[in-house]
Amino acid sequence: MYENVDFLTLEECKEVREKLFSLREFWIDRSRALSPFDDVPFYCLGVASYIDCIRPGESHLYFDNAKLTNKIIKENFPQLFKKLEETLAKEFSCEVKYVDDFAVPGFQIYLADWFFEDFMGPKHCDFHHYLLDWKKYGIDFDPKENLSFTASINLPKSGGGIYMWDKTYDYETERLKNLSYEQHRDQMYNIELPDEERTYFQYELGKIFFHSGNRYHQVAEVREMENDDERITLQGHAVKAGNTLYLFW
Ligand SMILES: [Fe+2]
Repeated sequence: MYENVDFLTLEECKEVREKLFSLREFWIDRSRALSPFDDVPFYCLGVASYIDCIRPGESHLYFDNAKLTNKIIKENFPQLFKKLEETLAKEFSCEVKYVDDFAVPGFQIYLADWFFEDFMGPKHCDFHHYLLDWKKYGIDFDPKENLSFTASINLPKSGGGIYMWDKTYDYETERLKNLSYEQHRDQMYNIELPDEERTYFQYELGKIFFHSGNRYHQVAEVREMENDDERITLQGHAVKAGNTLYLFW
C-alpha cells in the first residue's frame, strides 16, 4: 500500500507552516542526530521514538519531552490533528486513538542547505514500535498491519519524496537473537539494496503518503535546493489493534 491521499488545502498548508514558525523556540535541533555536522538546519517539533527512545536508560527523556511537546502540538494544531484523525479513520475504516504517554505525530523541518542535496538518510524499516511498551497499556497489535505516514506541508521547488524497496527486515526472526535495538538498527542499515531495485514515490503538497513501514525505504535527496526552499512534513506511525489505529512518533 503506497498512496498519496488528499489531506490539506494549500491555504491550510500555509497556515500550518506559519504556526510552526511562530513556535520556533520549541524546535529541537536534529543536526547531530542525522549528520556528522552540528550546523545542518534540520529540526523537529515533537519527539520521535527512533531518535529519543533508543537507549533504555535514557528513555525517560522521550517520555518527559513528549509530555511537553504533545501539549504544544495539540494546543497549536487542533484542526490539523482533527483532520489527521478523520483522514485515517476514513481511509482505514477504523477508530483512531493515542497512548497518553507516547509522543504524538510531529514535524520534520529541513531549511535550505546544500547538505540535503546529498543527504538520503539510511535505508531502513520502521520497527520502532518495539521501543515502546504497548502491553503496559493493554494494546496487542499485529506488526504486519503497521502504518507510517508523511504529510507534506511545504516542499522544495524540485519536489520531495521517498525511495522504497520490495524487501523487509525480518524483525520477528531477528529479535530471537536477543540483540539491542541499536544492534538491530545497525544490522538493518548495513544491508545491500541496489539503487536499480528501488521505486521513487513523489510527495505532493497537501497530501498524506501512507506506507506500511515494514518495507525498506529511504528519504530521497532534495534534487536541487534553492535558498528559499524548505521541506516540512508531519510524520507519524501507527499500530493496529483490533479496529483501532494507535498513533505515535
Ligand atoms: Fe521510516
